Amino acid sequence: MSKFRRIVILTGAGISAESGVDTFRDKDGIWSKVDYRDVATPQGFHRNPALVHEFYNERRRRMADVQPNAAHIALARLEREFAGDFLLVTQNIDDLHERAGSRKLVHMHGELAGAWCTNCGTRCEWHDDLSTRVPCLACHVAGFMRPDVVWFGEFPSRMDEIETSIGACDLFVSIGTSGNVYPAAGFVEEARNAGAHTVELNLEPSEGHNLFAEAEHGRATEIVPAFVERLLGKG
Ligand code: NAD
Ligand code: APR
Repeated sequence: MSKFRRIVILTGAGISAESGVDTFRDKDGIWSKVDYRDVATPQGFHRNPALVHEFYNERRRRMADVQPNAAHIALARLEREFAGDFLLVTQNIDDLHERAGSRKLVHMHGELAGAWCTNCGTRCEWHDDLSTRVPCLACHVAGFMRPDVVWFGEFPSRMDEIETSIGACDLFVSIGTSGNVYPAAGFVEEARNAGAHTVELNLEPSEGHNLFAEAEHGRATEIVPAFVERLLGKG
């Protein structure tokens, strides 16, 4: 049985890397090929919505070819078997956590499988390509649909819920994130201030690695299942 009672897990692109999803800041990462200002800011969308739609359409289409890996599956198991409070916060817009079985999950940077209308504000599930010609399912006006992702300069989703859970947690684990993007990069300090034990599981030391009480570096598919096994007291 774990000695912890309230766990918050933060994941980033690294947890999906071995499923075949590109990361952002690794060598050959997305931001080495595309300027984030063109595809991941409100200003970029205003300048060239077709380019932004194509960037996310391409990523959405690729979701059909990727599967959850052992790290996603281990976190779903942790949620099922851990007796205390649990929250999984992901910066990822893929749906691999849900497909692995995670349910207590917050997509703080939004989801590829969602869209919203900037004309009437309606959000909906979205699995097809988006374009400037697609009409909103609610108000039926075309030209206002955008992917339900959070861009740089926008406010991440469900922050109140995330901050409340971090402020009350006794274990905070950061997995597969380079620690470059706030507010997620600041969660470790909030968890420390709340008195939580903090753990980093990443391929290499992240930007803020020295803020963690404990760190393990290696591939997510190896170190995350082993960590979960130990946490559940079975390893
Ligand atoms: P920021 O990093 O200060 O982020 C502002 C807000 O946007 C944060 O709340 C963040 O959580 C959110 N956000 C929106 N879209 C996001 C997304 N797709 N991924 C992650 N978080 C997202 O943004 P800023 O003020 O525009 O930039 C601050 C500095 O960071 C600038 O100097 C910029 O050049 C740099 N930056 C670098 C990269 C990179 O990959 N090299 C990317 C973005 C910003
Ligand atoms: N196992 C574990 N970690 C890995 C693996 C792996 N197989 N492969 C890569 N990593 C690590 C890298 O070492 C790196 O530290 O995952 C991290 C990925 O970092 P980023 O590419 O910066 O991704 P992330 O931290 O999720 O980015 C945050 O930036 O632009 C935004 O929207 C984007 O939500 C994203 C945010």
